[in-house]
Amino acid sequence: MDSVVKPNFARGFIVRLLLFGVFILLLRFVYVVTLRGGSCASGDFCFFSSSAEVLSLSGGISGGGAAYVRFPDGSTVSPELGKLWTSREWRKSVEFYSSLFQDLVVEDFLSPTAKTLCIESVSGHEVLALKEIGVADSIGISKKNFPPLVLSGDIFHQPFGNNTFDFVFSGNILDLTRRPADLAGELARVLKPKGILVLITASAGDLYSLHSLKVLFASCTMVRSREINSPDSSKFTREIVFRKEEASQILPHKGNEMVNDNPFIVGNSASKCPITDHKLQLLHSAEPLLEEEPLKPWLTLKKNIQNIKYLPSLVDMSFKQRYVYIDVGARSYGSSIGSWFRKQYPKQNKTFEIYAIEADQAFHAEYVSKKGINYLPFAAWIRNESISFEVSHDHDQKSDEKGSGMGRIKAAGASSSGPSAKNLHMIQGFDFAEWLKNTVTEKDFVVVKMDVEGTEFDLVPRLFETGAICLVDELFLECHYNRWQRCCPGKRSPKYQNTYGQCIHLFSSLRENGVLVHQWW
Ligand SMILES: *[C@@H]1O[C@H](CO)[C@@H](O)[C@H](O)[C@H]1NC(C)=O
Ligand SMILES: *[C@@H]1O[C@H](CO)[C@@H](O)[C@H](O)[C@H]1NC(C)=O
Ligand SMILES: *[C@@H]1O[C@H](CO)[C@@H](O)[C@H](O)[C@H]1NC(C)=O
Repeated sequence: MDSVVKPNFARGFIVRLLLFGVFILLLRFVYVVTLRGGSCASGDFCFFSSSAEVLSLSGGISGGGAAYVRFPDGSTVSPELGKLWTSREWRKSVEFYSSLFQDLVVEDFLSPTAKTLCIESVSGHEVLALKEIGVADSIGISKKNFPPLVLSGDIFHQPFGNNTFDFVFSGNILDLTRRPADLAGELARVLKPKGILVLITASAGDLYSLHSLKVLFASCTMVRSREINSPDSSKFTREIVFRKEEASQILPHKGNEMVNDNPFIVGNSASKCPITDHKLQLLHSAEPLLEEEPLKPWLTLKKNIQNIKYLPSLVDMSFKQRYVYIDVGARSYGSSIGSWFRKQYPKQNKTFEIYAIEADQAFHAEYVSKKGINYLPFAAWIRNESISFEVSHDHDQKSDEKGSGMGRIKAAGASSSGPSAKNLHMIQGFDFAEWLKNTVTEKDFVVVKMDVEGTEFDLVPRLFETGAICLVDELFLECHYNRWQRCCPGKRSPKYQNTYGQCIHLFSSLRENGVLVHQWW
């Protein structure tokens, strides 16, 4: 599937020879037209035009060498355009597209009778190339008017009905726009069922990026992806061919197929995301899990952060609708959003929407005054319900922040190892998995940091059960277990019942199910 089209010297020679032949013919044509007053209608010299609909120069070769360009349908354009269209730069570019389109004709993706559209075809090279190879019903659309090849119009709200074109061509505009998802929707809309969409892109070189692109074109099936020379032939770029499915075959949630070999799920009730190649490729590149329980977790886990392979450092994340960061158990603004996510997480220049979920009232005031953060003053939980939270007062390093007097909160569920009544607070919990499904989609790039004091052993299974886990691109998870304590050698923290082994099981189950999870401190 993935082939590189290499320059072929023999072919290049033949092409040059042919071009030379065409030049001689043109000279002779000009001679005949000007000296004998002939025209295309007379037949003699239009044989190449009728076979391949090459431009025919007609009429006024008077004075400064300006020529009218006449299309096979009889329409002509001004001498200025004629001059431009026969300039060397233009011919080079048009010929690039001609050869690309001719390949597509040979491969049956494009027919001479097709109704075709070129997106953001700024000066119409692609449209002219289509007309020259005999695809007469071709038009471009761009911000700038360029008659007769290109209409001016908003590419996000095109003046065409649904299912209008047999063939849509998009140069690298999908790489340049900040709204690739909206543009993708519009391209698919104007395409007829079974119609062909061809994209040129410098992205989609890795499987993750290619997958993101396929998700944007949910109503289409990718039929080919290959590297080609870019128009200026200085580097490689990618040509991707999609075919729009017939309306009846479009599945609303292609990504959420039911497969049931999930360790968290009993029975066949739940949805699960398929572990596709792009996930395997990512997991292969991820840093290994620390399988051995560290004797000095306060050092080892913190040091491990330097080994983390961030998703944006592994793949191209261009083809996404929104970029979203969700901090579950956000604590103070500075504890992870300000100090880590905003400063250190690599973002490929994208602007992220930030959600902070923090039930501890000690932090409410700080978030209310923070701009650009969606703050949810509730506890991420597995249902909508009021829950009693234990306010603990241990001496773990991060617990007594900013002298608030409040320790970190923890669901006081089954593990009631005797929190005294005066330390219980009632708090509003919400169904985090359901909220996630209502807040983001598969088209979005979603990063979650979760530090929820042991509740991860409830939340993660719930994310699987609901299929919400499929929406998470990258997860930073702090797993809470009875760690060795810094203060007192040989003693474990009494705060959590889970063991390191259970944490490793949680992490490896996530990875086995295709989730890029990192061990967080
Ligand atoms: C055109 O397609 C869009 C989505 O692709 C749809 O929302 C809209 O209703 C359609 N319009 C008509 C007139 O069918
Ligand atoms: C981000 O933008 C800067 C300046 O605009 C540019 O130099 C840099 O290459 C960009 N980085 C990425 C990953 O696109
Ligand atoms: C939970 O609460 C949210 C927000 O109020 C609401 O949208 C959702 O429908 C509730 N879910 C259930 C199952 O009641």
